[in-house]
Amino acid sequence: MLVVCPNPTVDRQVFLAALEPGTVLRAGANKAFAAGKAVSAARGSLANGARPEVHVLLPDEGAEWYEAALHAEGMNLVSHRYPGIVRETVLVYEESGRVTVINGNGALVERERWYEFVRAVCARILPGGWVVCSGSFPPGIDEADITDFVTRVARAGGKLALDTGPAWLAAGIAGRPMLVSPNLAEAEAVLSRTDAPEPVEPGADALRRAELAAIKLQSRGVHYVTVTAGAAGVAWATPDGTGRLAGIEVEVRNPIGAGDAFMGGMVSWLEVGWSFPEAVRWGMATACAAIGQWSPGAASAEDAARYHARLSPNGATA
Ligand SMILES: Nc1ncnc2c1ncn2[C@@H]1O[C@H](COP(=O)(O)OP(=O)(O)OP(=O)(O)O)[C@@H](O)[C@H]1O
Ligand SMILES: [Mg+2]
Repeated sequence: MLVVCPNPTVDRQVFLAALEPGTVLRAGANKAFAAGKAVSAARGSLANGARPEVHVLLPDEGAEWYEAALHAEGMNLVSHRYPGIVRETVLVYEESGRVTVINGNGALVERERWYEFVRAVCARILPGGWVVCSGSFPPGIDEADITDFVTRVARAGGKLALDTGPAWLAAGIAGRPMLVSPNLAEAEAVLSRTDAPEPVEPGADALRRAELAAIKLQSRGVHYVTVTAGAAGVAWATPDGTGRLAGIEVEVRNPIGAGDAFMGGMVSWLEVGWSFPEAVRWGMATACAAIGQWSPGAASAEDAARYHARLSPNGATA
């Protein structure tokens, strides 16, 4: 599996009793992780035995720390440097469980540099191999570039799994990726052509809405669609039919990156030929395990297997 991270960031986690805007506060603790949603998906795939080649379009300033951090995690990183500063994402975790996320924008990339990156990635695609691309795109890349990226991956023989914000996702879908995996708010935003997803409460009808959204997105020419709905679970639409998997109760430590861990876990099993419902089960097991870790998307193989057993019919591992 190839993983493509177009807009990497450093996650700076800040732990506070309570966030009081406009005041001077002292954090109880701080953590930093080399990040970007595709990197979180790569972590999720590692927990499932995959060994992804992770291509990151990485600004020069701050690159050494970023590269060293991922190498220390055992990630097979290929960095594609360009001029600029690595962005940062500040995540404030409060004792109440509330999380506030402030995303940095990313460094402007020249179009020529972007296409060099895309060509380099496409040159590494194996026939029929999966390519996972998640997260935002850097300034300088427009919707036409994203549609073009999606078609180039297919032309190179790759199966693209794409998970990005609504405007970019709509542009990506126009290029007909093999799989998309938005959350429910993002899926509904794409379908209603708005760019600002409203948070969705995982109410009783969340899975029904997720399944409906999956069917509608699939009818736009995407082979596989999963729509995740937080604690409510996930629904999907494929050429073989639709399905739902209800969420299970987990102790929530870090919900950020659950969708990415889901994607990384699921694609790991699609890659080795497992059925779609079974790959989804592993995806959810990985997401549940990742929610218990601070490193975004990371999960231990043991935790993923433990959750998988809880999700499998009769509680048995398949
Ligand atoms: N609070 C929760 N309790 C139980 N399971 C959860 C919870 N949050 C997420 N999950 C699991 O993780 C999967 C993906 O979560 P979610 O829909 O929140 O993704 P997301 O919004 O894309 O997350 P992110 O963008 O932060 O990666 C869900 O389908 C569910 O299985
Ligand atoms: Mg997501």
